[in-house]
Amino acid sequence: MFQTSPHSRWRRALAVLACWLPLQAHATSADRDDLHDRVAACAACHGEAGRSAAEDYYPSIAGKPAAYLYAQLTHFRDGRRPHAIMASMLAWLSDAYLREIAAYYAAQDAATTPRSGTAPAATLEQGRRLVVDGDPARELPPCGACHGESLLGFSVDGSDAAVPGLLGLPPEYLAAQIGAWQTGVRHAAAPDCMLQIARKLDATEVGAVTAWIASRPLPAEHRPERLPVAPTTLPLACGSIPEAAR
Ligand code: HEC
Ligand code: HEC
Repeated sequence: MFQTSPHSRWRRALAVLACWLPLQAHATSADRDDLHDRVAACAACHGEAGRSAAEDYYPSIAGKPAAYLYAQLTHFRDGRRPHAIMASMLAWLSDAYLREIAAYYAAQDAATTPRSGTAPAATLEQGRRLVVDGDPARELPPCGACHGESLLGFSVDGSDAAVPGLLGLPPEYLAAQIGAWQTGVRHAAAPDCMLQIARKLDATEVGAVTAWIASRPLPAEHRPERLPVAPTTLPLACGSIPEAAR
């Protein structure tokens, strides 16, 4: 939809912000704004309906579990996941409004554009082994133990328990998130299981794991699995899956 030069994209994002920031001065009227106008500002980076372009760093947000998206929006707003632009856009929005934005994106169809990582075969094989088998000697569980065997994530009906899928995201974004946990920049609800996972991986392994995940083909229909109840057997306790916390 947009020209893809980073320059024009940033100009557009800044123009969007210039319109956005004055709105923040009126928190209550901002809450009443039409959701559609509001999410149009998000499209400058996250793409139409939250499906970002294949060559972008920006993560697609369409089709992710509503509870996960809502948690991230509050994390950005409240500084548990620092990102200046995201924080400034969300600064004055109420929890109820963030729930509406999260529900809007969760209801959209996920992006179908494949992301491709090019990496040597040995790197991809190292990544595959770590993702699929983990490393029992270091108590590193397989990623699928929480993200689902197909890495599509899950949501739980009538609950805030959710784990995001990992497919269709740029390898740079995936690696940056693991790095942000390692350096203590990104936080999830405590106990933060992803912090423990991230700290077991060295830099080479992060590169291998994210290259392999990004090389996975996208199934035609890729939504998070909908579970009637939260899984009770997770390899580690995660604050974002409270029912399963041990
Ligand atoms: C100027 C570009 C820009 C705009 C505009 C923008 N975002 Fe973001 N957003 C980002 C970046 C960059 C990240 C990844 C931050 C990181 O690396 O942690 C992000 C991350 C997110 C995430 C987390 C995704 C995940 O998988 O964890 C959500 C949710 C999100 N944005 C929602 C929104 C919403 C809703 C809006 C509109 C109100 C919006 N964003 C506007 C740049 C933007
Ligand atoms: C014990 C459960 C568990 C295991 C095992 C696990 N994860 Fe996670 N992961 C989570 C949860 C929960 C979140 C959401 C955290 C939040 O709310 O921010 C998450 C989020 C992520 C994210 C951020 C996604 C986004 O859209 O920003 C990445 C990347 C990630 N995990 C990669 C991995 C990789 C790679 C592995 C295997 C090496 C792995 N995870 C194993 C529970 C787990």
